[in-house]
Amino acid sequence: MKLDINGQTHEVDAADDMPLLWALRDVLGLTGTKFGCGGGHCGVCTVHIDGVATRSCVLPIVALAGKKITTIEGLARGKTLHVVQQAWLDLDVVQCGYCQSGQIMTASALLASNPKPSDAQIDTAMEGNLCRCATYPRIRAAIHAAADKLGS
Ligand code: FES
Ligand code: FES
Repeated sequence: MKLDINGQTHEVDAADDMPLLWALRDVLGLTGTKFGCGGGHCGVCTVHIDGVATRSCVLPIVALAGKKITTIEGLARGKTLHVVQQAWLDLDVVQCGYCQSGQIMTASALLASNPKPSDAQIDTAMEGNLCRCATYPRIRAAIHAAADKLGS
């Protein structure tokens, strides 16, 4: 199976029904995408599929032929962080960190489709990404900061 991940074609020797999360972590060593619930409920495994935030733990690789997959490892451009990653650093969002790659992937997909989201739109977009450290207020503030930077 050939997968287009972060702009590169990867050959994955795995069963068609292997969830993308397993292929990323266990086959390809892209461990920035995390495992949480394994059932599509917590959001820590979020990646972009053709730009849309998607749970990788419930997505079989057979469904991904011809699709563009982006993981947290592919979000920056060389040494330049994505505006969302930079806002996360600037506002010191992270606590334990476990949920944060999923949060950043969902937030960056949100801003790609809606560059100036309201609080309500942020809350709706982010509600499936759980954070046991309750960093939600800082996540919301960082999304607004990233939106401001995109608009400046
Ligand atoms: S690990 Fe995929 S949604 Fe929880
Ligand atoms: S930062 Fe710890 S779970 Fe979100």
